[in-house]
Amino acid sequence: MPTIQSKLPGVGLTIFTQMTNLANQYQAINLSQGFPDFEPSEKLLSLVKKYYAAGYNQYAPMAGVLALREQIAQKQEALYGVAVDAATEITITSGGTQALFSAISTLIRPGDEVLIFEPAYDSYRPAIELYGGKVVAIPLVAPDFQIDWHFVRSQVTSATRMVLINNPTNPTGRVWSAADLADLADLATAADLFVLSDEVYEHMVYSGHVHQSVWSIPKLHDRSFVVASFGKLLHTTGWKMGYILASEPLMREFQKVHQYTVFSANTPVQYAIADFIADAHEYLQLGSFFEGKRNLLQAGLAGSKFRLLPCEGTYFQLLDYSMVSDASEMDFARQLIVDHKIATVPVSAFYCNSLNQNLLRVCFAKKDETILQAIDNLRSI
Ligand SMILES: Cc1ncc(COP(=O)(O)O)c(C=O)c1O
Repeated sequence: MPTIQSKLPGVGLTIFTQMTNLANQYQAINLSQGFPDFEPSEKLLSLVKKYYAAGYNQYAPMAGVLALREQIAQKQEALYGVAVDAATEITITSGGTQALFSAISTLIRPGDEVLIFEPAYDSYRPAIELYGGKVVAIPLVAPDFQIDWHFVRSQVTSATRMVLINNPTNPTGRVWSAADLADLADLATAADLFVLSDEVYEHMVYSGHVHQSVWSIPKLHDRSFVVASFGKLLHTTGWKMGYILASEPLMREFQKVHQYTVFSANTPVQYAIADFIADAHEYLQLGSFFEGKRNLLQAGLAGSKFRLLPCEGTYFQLLDYSMVSDASEMDFARQLIVDHKIATVPVSAFYCNSLNQNLLRVCFAKKDETILQAIDNLRSI
């Protein structure tokens, strides 16, 4: 047996899997992993059945089913006012994670530096490191998670190749302001950087906040990848379907990687989604749907010992437990599962140096009854 030389020696089970396993072991309410505990639309399910039964069961075109790419182009143009060429600027992927991974592998070479903002989604770092890239993490701290652009600019070197952003942001629930996006555009232009913009929560914005896609920012348009997820859009995280947008020269390079990793995504599901999103109402109501759930959770925890940080977008709420315990986030998250039957995620897991700020992330993409039960458990502390 040859020696295994791990390419990712620091990587173990993701924090989401760890917390979900513990939640199952202790039969706790699972607000840790970001997935709905309710079913997707019946209409969508019957469309999928229809296409399976009608024989749409072989490889889709490498870039994805054209009917779906056309629907995405219409949606993108209607929402952000900038045209997308369905023939050359969209690829359907096996989820947002694959889109992110393939975009990183398209651009990152050994020695390239990538700026990311922490707390950050956990798939970014290993994908960058696997291709020999170096992560330069910009730590943002509670309660505002403000970006100090002077500091960001100081982190740019001749090796910096890309900035990776997540807007709206998991786990902070913040939506990037127009001013931050303008600073990003200036930086990317001045230092000639690519931008990888993870926008999987684009429709989940609340309280009058508006999501601005980098696709609609002229300075960023040609140097950016935009990643979206049908798992988030349609309450179907288990289907692992998503897509990526980029201008034609970038997309051509992306597809060289994509065609030899997955080649093409699930065919009948693509046809079904194309039909389903032809009715824009199906995704336009997502913001108010999740805003109702956010409000239910926030109202239920008002006056409790947990302090709620602002949640402008995504389906995550941060809880500050400083008034309850001074245990580390990891220890307190474990204690909540074992003693109070509720699973959350320590926010320290989203920082490379495990910064402890007495913060837990809870996912409110759950049935109202699950949220109400979680409120009871948390209020009993
Ligand atoms: C910020 C962020 N990006 C990407 C993804 C992955 O999307 P998908 O499930 O489509 O791979 C997630 C899932 O939780 C996420 O939170």
